[in-house]
Amino acid sequence: MNLHEAILAHFQERFGEAPAHVIRAPGRVNLLGEHVDYNDGFVLPIAIDRATWLAFSPSETGQTTLQARDLSEEVSFSPETLSAKTDSAGHPLPGWALYPAGVMWALQDAGLATPALKGVYSSNVPQGSGLSSSAAVEMAFVLAWQTLGGWELSPMQRALLGQKAENNYVGVNCGIMDQFASACGKQDRLLHLDCRSLEWHTLPLPQDVAIVIADTRMRRTLTSGEYNKRRADCEEAVRILSTKLPGIRSLRDVSVEMLDQHASELPEQVEKRARHVVEEIERSVRAIPLLERREMTEFGRLINECHASLRDLYEVSIPELDTMVEIAQALPGCYGARLTGAGFGGCTVNLVERGQADAFSEALSAGYETETGFYPEIYICSASNGAELV
Ligand code: GLA
Repeated sequence: MNLHEAILAHFQERFGEAPAHVIRAPGRVNLLGEHVDYNDGFVLPIAIDRATWLAFSPSETGQTTLQARDLSEEVSFSPETLSAKTDSAGHPLPGWALYPAGVMWALQDAGLATPALKGVYSSNVPQGSGLSSSAAVEMAFVLAWQTLGGWELSPMQRALLGQKAENNYVGVNCGIMDQFASACGKQDRLLHLDCRSLEWHTLPLPQDVAIVIADTRMRRTLTSGEYNKRRADCEEAVRILSTKLPGIRSLRDVSVEMLDQHASELPEQVEKRARHVVEEIERSVRAIPLLERREMTEFGRLINECHASLRDLYEVSIPELDTMVEIAQALPGCYGARLTGAGFGGCTVNLVERGQADAFSEALSAGYETETGFYPEIYICSASNGAELV
């Protein structure tokens, strides 16, 4: 049974009827432009063929009642209980429920109707794996309330509301990339977003290249703390640099030459963080003509450089991610490999010659297991559409 069928059956069992609607909202994998979205940089993600599935109907009770199938847990809440972050009985909301409740809060705050609904959801985006399982949940619920609420926003506006929920309700100071990719994904296309202007377009995915996702099975711990610290270091860099470079608003406005010139004025750690960001933004600019000309070897080199920079300068890798990347980079047909997402665990993304992808996956799996004793999950993914009613 696939997730679509499973969610229909589960809704029927819980609520004794078929759901009125089903939504599929994908996770994402990012090829280049890591930890630059909150620095006004450029990102190159795709929406993947793994998703949150949400089956739902309007509810007559005035309460939104949700069941998380993967956890076998259920909560009910309403606009009145949102600011206290409690369920209808006054108990604190469990962690997973902060995402849908946060979406309701962000929509209410924007003056958008969030009629009570009853729903069941389930996801095959592994949590804490760097594939944006949270953004997928957020985008599913924004679309669910749009479906019932009688209002309509563009996918980008929906992404911004999901980000607001995560920043101000859940408390993770994330950028816009994940929600953007989950909302705006296009089948078989790579997305290119300017995180400053929010202008975006799509690029073809070269047919002879496979995107292979390899899950180290290591899960992040305490990420939001480390993530927020990286962000604070970037802000500190801008604050110090702007005393010498008036007019800069973010690290997007700083070139590698400018950073070289003023490097000694920054504390060592702040300088390393800023260097990753400034060079990564430069890499993501160089990537576009390479992709247009299908120069995969050169594009892959940028991906490899990105990993080294995330490991040595931004310091968001872990030994298992480094092992997975080292094994991959030495295999035939691999153009580039790196950790993807926030880091501290989760997945790597690998760009591989299509004809070699199966052999690559097998060798990577065996190599990683030998080195670490863990059996990784490896799959060849395809680019899917963003959140949609199915
Ligand atoms: C997480 C955040 C994104 C982005 C990435 C790193 O996935 O949610 O906004 O900052 O980390 O590129």
